[in-house]
Amino acid sequence: MEKILETLKQELKEIKNTQKLNDLKAKYLGKKGSISSLSAKLKDLAIEEKKEFGSKLNKIKTEATNLIEDKKDKIEKEILNQKLKNESVDITLPATKIKTGSPSIVEKVIEDAEEFFISMGYDVIEGPEIEYDKYNFEMLNLPKDHPARDAQDTYYLKDEELLLRSQTSPVQVRTMLKGEGKEPIRMICPGKTYRREDINATHEQEFDQIEGLVIDKNISLSDLKGTVDTFVKHLYGENVETRFRPSYYPFTEPSVEIDMSCIYCEGSGCSMCKPKGWITICGAGMVHPNVLRDSGYDPNEWQGFAFGFGAERLAMLKYEIQDMRIFHENDLRETEKFDRKESK
Ligand code: DAH
Repeated sequence: MEKILETLKQELKEIKNTQKLNDLKAKYLGKKGSISSLSAKLKDLAIEEKKEFGSKLNKIKTEATNLIEDKKDKIEKEILNQKLKNESVDITLPATKIKTGSPSIVEKVIEDAEEFFISMGYDVIEGPEIEYDKYNFEMLNLPKDHPARDAQDTYYLKDEELLLRSQTSPVQVRTMLKGEGKEPIRMICPGKTYRREDINATHEQEFDQIEGLVIDKNISLSDLKGTVDTFVKHLYGENVETRFRPSYYPFTEPSVEIDMSCIYCEGSGCSMCKPKGWITICGAGMVHPNVLRDSGYDPNEWQGFAFGFGAERLAMLKYEIQDMRIFHENDLRETEKFDRKESK
């Protein structure tokens, strides 16, 4: 028995995997294994010898089993260690760069405008995107069936009394009603507007405007000119010029359209200004007496000017973008370029 145990120990040393270990186990402890078959000898022994032989045999069996189990543990541990070694990660390697997006450049232009106008003493006001027809049109001197409504192909909602605002101008009305005809007003309202448009490089169904309204005493068109000119120079530089052209909006009288000189060709004509040298960026005018009156301000006492910029247009000019659609496409290859321009 001792000998068997000795050879088992020797053989165990050579074993490197569980398959071989199982074979070895069968060789010693299996039904016909060398240790198990020793029990067959029991029947030939005298009672006294049987006892001694039996207990020794049990001991040997236990010892052999333990040896094999220990070896099994060892092999399994080695396999695990090897696996961990193979799967280990070098944490000192530089990390792969994560691609992040960048803030919307329309949003950046709006924030820039907010800072500028706040520094001039304006409040920044928000208004609802779902608006009453009354504020979006009627109280802006655009009664039902007014032909100028055709210029804004509007998404009407419930009973045509509610709509997706087609301009930010209704916030003028809301602000005047809050002022109750008693307070001077200086506000801008940036926000989303909606119109049914055939989408192309310069038209989207969802776009942003930056509305402005000043109501006070002794306000004139020259205040509007000075304000818009200063804002445009703040955005695009001191060399940019502004030009006022007569226009028509039902809620202003007189009404103007404001152009800026093209920053890309300085007036000689290019693909950004299509090739006129001037780019229209704003509708504006002196608040119409009807609008003042309807919102509680006596036009004999109060005057005001109002303006509305297209925020995408401002951003397109600032970042030399020719196609408005990229604002909604979320294509990182395009927006990355804006970041680069920003850091220049
Ligand atoms: N709401 C006008 C539009 O969307 C733009 C505009 C024109 C706004 C004149 C004004 C204004 O405040 O005075 O076409």
